[in-house]
Amino acid sequence: MPDTITPMIGFIGGSGVYDLDGLEDRAWVKVRTPWGDPSDEILIGRLHGVRVAFLPRHGRGHPTPPSALNYRANIDAMKRIGCTELISLSAVGSLREDLPPGHFVIVDQFIDRTFAREKSFFGTGCVAHVSVAHPVCPRLGDALEAAAQQVGIPHTRGGTYLVMEGPQFSTKAESLLYRQWGCAVIGMTNMPEAKLAREAELCYATMAMVTDFDCWHPDHDAVTVEQVVKVLFGNADRARALVKAVVPMLGADRGPCPAGCDRALDHALVTAPEK
Ligand code: ADE
Repeated sequence: MPDTITPMIGFIGGSGVYDLDGLEDRAWVKVRTPWGDPSDEILIGRLHGVRVAFLPRHGRGHPTPPSALNYRANIDAMKRIGCTELISLSAVGSLREDLPPGHFVIVDQFIDRTFAREKSFFGTGCVAHVSVAHPVCPRLGDALEAAAQQVGIPHTRGGTYLVMEGPQFSTKAESLLYRQWGCAVIGMTNMPEAKLAREAELCYATMAMVTDFDCWHPDHDAVTVEQVVKVLFGNADRARALVKAVVPMLGADRGPCPAGCDRALDHALVTAPEK
């Protein structure tokens, strides 16, 4: 681990966020990984002199649904291209009255209810059990909070993101259950993304962008794509403003992550290295 790290800020853009504007020296780059192909080429460039990378999570044109994403390839590709931090910009439904459409939530916990995805870089032959007790890097959370403040985006710091498999939205009973569990928002993509970012020793944080009240809400009996899309593009504009504000806040050379995200494997590997 070097003493000084020159950051490259990675963004994974969810529904509605398929490009970043204002980058200097921009280029879309194809990255190959041993896990297969990521969702798309990765856009690289500089913003205020800081190196930035951007991957549209579902691909440009949104061809890939949440369950079919190659999460391992996405995270590995961002690591290979040089990212040191990863910020996920993700559309979500709201499970709380005080988090209306258009509100942004800097989540700090996840409940993983997905079941049909590859979730680890490790397996037979190389065993590792990494801690995800605190899946979000607080330093990135601080920066997202300060940037949302600066840009004037209504936001809340902290909250649990329930990750469902999809592609259908929840039943009302599920939605009510997730509220009882204390969840703030619901979406389909941040797991295993956050777990894999930790295995890859990348600092990770999510800006969850509310597009709808999930179906628990008495005035919103069913979530529809029409509702979601209506809010999505306004959220995407705010997300792009947020990116421009947050990059300079994270761009300076830094030491190792105070929370230890970049050393997550130090005590996680079980299999002895080959002699
Ligand atoms: N993404 C956006 N809104 C959602 C919802 N209500 N449930 C799951 N994923 C979502």
